[in-house]
Amino acid sequence: MSSEPLQSIVVETTPFDDQKPGTSGLRKKVKVFMQKNYTENFVQCIFDALGCKLKGSTLIVGGDGRYFSKPAINTIIRIASANEVSKLIIGQLGIFSTPAVSALIRQHKVLGGIVLTASHNPGGIRNDFGIKYNIENGGPAPDQISNSIYELTKKITQYKTTPTLETDRLIDILGTSKFNVNGRDFTVEIIDSTKNYVALMKEIFDFHKLRALIRGTDSRPPFSILIDSMNGVTGVYVRNIFVEELGASPDNNVRRVVPLDNFGEIHPDPNLTYAKDLVDALQENASYDFGAAFDGDGDRNMILGKNAFFVTPSDSLAVLANNLECIPYFKKNGVHGFARSMPTAAAVDRVAAKLGKEMFEVPTGWKYFGNLMDAGRLSLCGEESFGTGSDHIREKDGIWAVLAWLSVIEHKKMGVEEILKEHWKLYGRNYFTRYDYEECETEGANLLIENLEKLLTEGTLVGKSYTAQGKSYKVAKADNFSYVDPIDNSVAQNQGIRILFEDGSRLIYRLSGTGSSGATIRVYIECYEKEDVLTDAQVMLKPLVEIGLEISQLKKFTQREEPTVIT
Ligand code: G6P
Ligand code: ZN
Repeated sequence: MSSEPLQSIVVETTPFDDQKPGTSGLRKKVKVFMQKNYTENFVQCIFDALGCKLKGSTLIVGGDGRYFSKPAINTIIRIASANEVSKLIIGQLGIFSTPAVSALIRQHKVLGGIVLTASHNPGGIRNDFGIKYNIENGGPAPDQISNSIYELTKKITQYKTTPTLETDRLIDILGTSKFNVNGRDFTVEIIDSTKNYVALMKEIFDFHKLRALIRGTDSRPPFSILIDSMNGVTGVYVRNIFVEELGASPDNNVRRVVPLDNFGEIHPDPNLTYAKDLVDALQENASYDFGAAFDGDGDRNMILGKNAFFVTPSDSLAVLANNLECIPYFKKNGVHGFARSMPTAAAVDRVAAKLGKEMFEVPTGWKYFGNLMDAGRLSLCGEESFGTGSDHIREKDGIWAVLAWLSVIEHKKMGVEEILKEHWKLYGRNYFTRYDYEECETEGANLLIENLEKLLTEGTLVGKSYTAQGKSYKVAKADNFSYVDPIDNSVAQNQGIRILFEDGSRLIYRLSGTGSSGATIRVYIECYEKEDVLTDAQVMLKPLVEIGLEISQLKKFTQREEPTVIT
């Protein structure tokens, strides 16, 4: 507690030319953020972009606890106090998962939140940090706000701060501190990182049934799960929800649940490559019925069945869409439309068609779902990049996805693989794979895209047939995806090159918007089979992969023989 009057000051600064937010905020190496005034400039520009709404506002602040979070939060506290923010609600030790921030913004009806994370990118002093702004609906800032933040970063000349505001250990202890800055009240409230979020999950799901599933009943053996937090922020939520509430064993059912500021030197991204540890654990121990992993900030998820049977995120979305009625939240609120990002396989489209629901295809990035949810036209959505979520918040939600899957399993009394096979039998299967070429030379990656764009303008692709391994595909349409938001008519252009074949197969090329160095090229490959639903996806998609590499001349432009990651 301190009531002694404090005065803010104005500090002269000069712009940095690299503060353009990517798909999800500004992500850079920790060293970059550590430069004098770098973090200060960006935070001031967020505040300036909010204009007159900022005065007297409340903001939520927290993140995945990665290295540099504490100094960044202290900077935010001081700059906020000097910019007439009236209150900050901060997670204890700076810890909030991204979904928890989204939930808090909505529950407290505040102006927005600042999330300190670089999501699935590695952390620690040599790795990445990030700052992302979320708006009052709880979702990531739309392009228009990110663009105005960026414009401001290019011409910033000063920032305001209160250097005498004592932040030492401020975020370590629960409670409220009041300050007097320039004669105004400024409040910092440190809250429990998990409480609100856990309460929300209890409203959405039937915890009683989920506990019975995990613990077993007289008529049903325990369903054995292995939940891997990959040393990220979900650890605290997993211990609370799965162990304390649902009765999972702290020794056998959860792993890597202590958040570490460098994620234990791993790449906290839940896919078959970076969560290989979990895959191995399920393959080695056939008594596990289910596995799941999350990324650093808890919005991504990967679902595995017995023996590490892999569920693609695109299939995960379709299965959930097909079974939402077993979740109390949807029973109560009804199921409106479904949506997926453009590169996500179209399995959910088939469910939407069968159930007579509206279906939307948006650009990559969770922010594009927000308007549809706010308008009451979207209940469930997902992305191939291991994101699944619903309109309970405005971010994707890893723990929510696992609880949703367990609800479906409990309801259907079937295992993961059985559920998938039943689904494919009914709908056919959208085979999908993604090839990532990480940290390529930026120049080569740009040339690859430019070359594809040239093919589009020349108009030579459409009508052309390509053959590989005895399979032929004829191009029906090729374009660079653009999207008009049906709610506010805003336009997003150049969202990925699409080559669509006559039989519905697709090849998509994009540059990642979430990396912090070099360029990552993503190639998305999809085909649909009505009858042949049990072939290995890599085998089924081999011919299309070859065609995709041929059309893009990827090896020539990148000098890469193999992708870094296949999902
Ligand atoms: C973040 C966003 C997702 C998006 C993904 C794309 O995780 O929250 O909504 O799908 O980035 O990443 P990329 O690296 O492909 O741009
Ligand atoms: Zn994330």
